[in-house]
Amino acid sequence: MTMGPRWRPPARTDIRIVEADRGDAGPRVELPTATDTRALGRALGEVLHAGDLIILGGPLGAGKTALTQGIGDGLGVTTGVVSPTFVIARVHLEGRIPLVHVDAYRLGGLGELDDLDLDVSQDESVTVIEWGAGMAEALSDAYLRIDLARADDSDVRTAVLDAHGGDWAARVAEALRARHV
Ligand SMILES: Nc1ncnc2c1ncn2[C@@H]1O[C@H](COP(=O)(O)OP(=O)(O)OP(=O)(O)O)[C@@H](O)[C@H]1O
Ligand SMILES: [Mg+2]
Repeated sequence: MTMGPRWRPPARTDIRIVEADRGDAGPRVELPTATDTRALGRALGEVLHAGDLIILGGPLGAGKTALTQGIGDGLGVTTGVVSPTFVIARVHLEGRIPLVHVDAYRLGGLGELDDLDLDVSQDESVTVIEWGAGMAEALSDAYLRIDLARADDSDVRTAVLDAHGGDWAARVAEALRARHV
């Protein structure tokens, strides 16, 4: 078999599904290091479509930006994904699909997001919103909500991936399978 220049072996990581079937709730994944959190993001980035909305929750330093960096990698974003805290939103145009990365920490409401007048529409891009829980759900009927939690005494993070509508549940499963987790 001939491998094209873009072929890469699947990344080896320590991502582990702690609980796959939680009834109505999505899988819970354990992420020992920041590299693992980025790897989860990369796996998700590879299954994203234009119009997708991902809402990230979790406390300060939980790894929301680290996860978004991985999503950027998976989309082929080559410019650095950094926290958009002071600019509210950053648009990365060089990947497979435009990535709109929002930090809603200081955002009073979704109207303020509209006022930013971004270069791309929600339909044609992937939107990832840190601190978006309880607000950004109104942007779309279908979205993936990821809640990150951190341990008190180690770097370990856990991510709960909750699919809402669309084909999110199937795509989350596909992304996790792709990483052999
Ligand atoms: N398992 C892990 N997953 C993610 N980040 C980790 C992990 N272990 C250590 N870290 C470190 O924790 C920090 C996470 O910071 P990050 O900016 O991603 O968090 P955040 O949730 O976006 O914070 P904020 O609420 O300020 O936006 C980074 O410095 C990262 O290197
Ligand atoms: Mg952040």
